[in-house]
Amino acid sequence: MVRAMTKPSWAVTVIMAVAVAQLACVEGIGINWGNQASQNLHPRNIVQMLKDNNITKIKLFDSDAWVVKHFAGTGIEVMLGIPNLHLASLADRYSHAKAWVKTNLTRHIHQGGVDIKYVAVGNEPFLTAYNGSNLQTTFPALWNIQKAINEVGLGNKIKATIPQNADVYDSGTKGPSGGDFRADIRATMKQIVQFLRDNNAPFVVNIYPFLSLSLNPDFPIEFAFFSGGAQPVQDGSITYTNVLDANLDTLVSALKKAGCGNVPIIVGEIGWPTDGDKYASVDLAKKFYDGFFNKIATTKGTPLYKNSIEYYLFGLTDENLKSIAPGDFERHWGIFTYDGQPKFAVDFLGQNTNKMPVAAKNVKYLEKKWCVYVSKGETVNELSANMDYACTNGDCTALKYSSPCSKLSNSSKVSYAFNMFFQMMYQDVESCDFGGLAKIVTKNATVGNCLFPIALDIDWAWSVAADVRFTVLVVLLVLLLLLEL
Ligand SMILES: *[C@@H]1O[C@H](CO)[C@@H](O)[C@H](O)[C@H]1NC(C)=O
Ligand SMILES: *[C@@H]1O[C@H](CO)[C@@H](O)[C@H](O)[C@H]1NC(C)=O
Ligand SMILES: *[C@@H]1O[C@H](CO)[C@@H](O)[C@H](O)[C@H]1NC(C)=O
Ligand SMILES: *[C@@H]1O[C@H](CO)[C@@H](O)[C@H](O)[C@H]1NC(C)=O
Ligand SMILES: *[C@@H]1O[C@H](CO)[C@@H](O)[C@H](O)[C@H]1NC(C)=O
Repeated sequence: MVRAMTKPSWAVTVIMAVAVAQLACVEGIGINWGNQASQNLHPRNIVQMLKDNNITKIKLFDSDAWVVKHFAGTGIEVMLGIPNLHLASLADRYSHAKAWVKTNLTRHIHQGGVDIKYVAVGNEPFLTAYNGSNLQTTFPALWNIQKAINEVGLGNKIKATIPQNADVYDSGTKGPSGGDFRADIRATMKQIVQFLRDNNAPFVVNIYPFLSLSLNPDFPIEFAFFSGGAQPVQDGSITYTNVLDANLDTLVSALKKAGCGNVPIIVGEIGWPTDGDKYASVDLAKKFYDGFFNKIATTKGTPLYKNSIEYYLFGLTDENLKSIAPGDFERHWGIFTYDGQPKFAVDFLGQNTNKMPVAAKNVKYLEKKWCVYVSKGETVNELSANMDYACTNGDCTALKYSSPCSKLSNSSKVSYAFNMFFQMMYQDVESCDFGGLAKIVTKNATVGNCLFPIALDIDWAWSVAADVRFTVLVVLLVLLLLLEL
């Protein structure tokens, strides 16, 4: 997701209720882990969470070697990511792609190393919001990365691909069967999918029924879910009852038109946020995931695509630094909270057990300190300027809509905002001042069901890559030696 956003054309749609009533098992579900948070869980916590919850694959948005190496020997498959910002350089020089593969891929591939099958080159690079800025560089970057992978002899095992937003295709008035790539990028998309076909690589697409609903006032709400409550959409002899199938079949039609009907499809992101929008809540997220896991446990493909599809959920944890340009919900996609606590019951194996997922273990927090508002007879302007500062630089996205925090009194909202900023600043004393309107307390400031969180205590290694640390150490040792002499 956005890392930008989407507007899937839900326009026409839908599904033949392939009523396979059998409870099969969901095979190997994957999940995205984005790290745009002020403090992120340690990769060790993440590995444990995935194992405890039977999640077998993880998709990353970059390839920080220190993070990636924690997945070595865990049996968890890792999809590496290359941020859009590197596309131009990778497209420009083959040597850059070779260097990327050498430093970020081959080092992990050895006995007991990391299980890597895919490299995601860019992330939704053709979003209309990017004004075509990645249009010339994405395909050459993909080409160079796959060539470099082939050159080190890993081409049979590791495939480069490009996670695309579902807005790269749309359906005509006919419905899914009329699907084709967007006219402004059709030529490039055709080259890309033919390249994927020739390399036995999959097409990766991010699909968000939530956004279909949230962005289209007349979208039939039940069509975003899987309970069959929506007015079905007819496309020829096929009946669609949910937007996911309709969307996937639009892609299938587009691939066929490009002569690539047999390219395998992976859904790179799918999920539902719990806050920050009229349609974002724990209840609706649970409804979505319950229906989704049931669907994929019983029905492998779609009316037009009979193979089973690999899915990566979005996402693992909330990210309080994500851009909220698309909406406040951007910071609330986690099935787990920032500290790895499950938000709702969900069965990743699609067996309807209605169990809470297993929480992260051994999570380290900063001290039990909170920053709260103390009134000093300040003016309304003074107060609102400080509140604005806290919200702009911190995170107030839980103060609206139906979140428990939206019910706080005005003065508790100010405390909430001050505390979020204070925690995001690692409880730095100076970040709890606000012109004398704030103070640090050691009594839990939580109000009712609105949690006033304590930030994670993160290893300093998180922000400084292991290589950098090693270099610094060597330089220091050399300096010491020189001084001795
Ligand atoms: C994970 O799978 C194992 C074996 O299938 C099962 O016993 C266990 O209950 C599962 N755990 C969760 C959290 O679903
Ligand atoms: C390896 O990946 C990291 C993280 O995504 C990136 O910053 C770095 O530039 C990459 N290395 C090369 C040589 O491209
Ligand atoms: C795209 O164009 C719009 C309007 O011209 C501009 O506001 C926006 O910043 C541009 N976005 C990018 C990523 O260049
Ligand atoms: C709380 O704040 C809102 C919006 O800032 C304002 O409209 C309302 O009057 C305030 N309520 C109280 C009790 O001060
Ligand atoms: C503060 O209180 C809330 C509500 O009782 C609780 O969930 C939370 O764990 C407490 N925080 C700490 C750091 O003790």
